[in-house]
Amino acid sequence: MSPEVTGFFDEATNTISYVVRDPKGSACAIIDSVLDFDYSSGRTDTRSADAIIAFVKEKGYDVQWLLESHVHADHLSAAPYIQEQVGGKIGIGDRITVVQDTFGKVFNEGTEFQRDGSQFDKLFKEGDSFHIGQLRGDVLHTPGHTPACLTYVIGDAAFVGDTLFMPDFGTARCDFPGGSSKMLYNSIQKILALPDETRIFVGHDYKAPGRDEYEWETTVAEQKALNVHIGQGKSVEDFVQMRDTRDASLAMPKLIIPSLQVNMRAGNMPEPDEKGDVFLKVPVNKL
Ligand SMILES: [Fe+2]
Repeated sequence: MSPEVTGFFDEATNTISYVVRDPKGSACAIIDSVLDFDYSSGRTDTRSADAIIAFVKEKGYDVQWLLESHVHADHLSAAPYIQEQVGGKIGIGDRITVVQDTFGKVFNEGTEFQRDGSQFDKLFKEGDSFHIGQLRGDVLHTPGHTPACLTYVIGDAAFVGDTLFMPDFGTARCDFPGGSSKMLYNSIQKILALPDETRIFVGHDYKAPGRDEYEWETTVAEQKALNVHIGQGKSVEDFVQMRDTRDASLAMPKLIIPSLQVNMRAGNMPEPDEKGDVFLKVPVNKL
């Protein structure tokens, strides 16, 4: 079965959110939504999420799932906001507990911050399956970029989050706490073992040098032949060396500090203080 896939590109964070619909009905899932955040003013905005909500309402779609490929470090999730408006269960990988434990320490969270993934409606593990109407989704655990990264294989489409990017851009960084280039290599081999014609939808696009347009759809066959980091049967040793060298030169994403605090809570802000005000922390010299 081939789901109908609509991508929504967020220019501020280069993120693609997806609406994935069962072609035989109205059921859909929303993958990796974005809550806009202006760091300099500390203000949130819902225009990106509102565009997706307007789309599913106009089409009369029934939102069954709000899926996260991982705890993003470059944008805040809008899953709880979207859930409030149109429903759906929020799902992420069950290794979220590892991520919560790591960043619970980084942000010196108190015991009220649960590290058991209970902020999410569903924790998926390798081999789990789920349904969007009559469409079947299968879950691959694809760690490396983070320990909890998942790939959702829905019909003939794979939503790979931050593992592979477009073939001319390569792969995702592996230098966040709990990341590993060797793990990412092995995870990518799982994705490349899917049928050649599988459509691959990536989590970000940055327009590789020489390309004028943003793109987010490719195939397993194209990745195997053309991916600049891992195509043509690149060895694990070569990949790890390239990835680790490159990661050492990358700056932290602009929104990593607010993103992690919100996304490890399934897209919710920390609890308000006694006056009802909400604060995010900035850990100094920790990241
Ligand atoms: Fe990411």
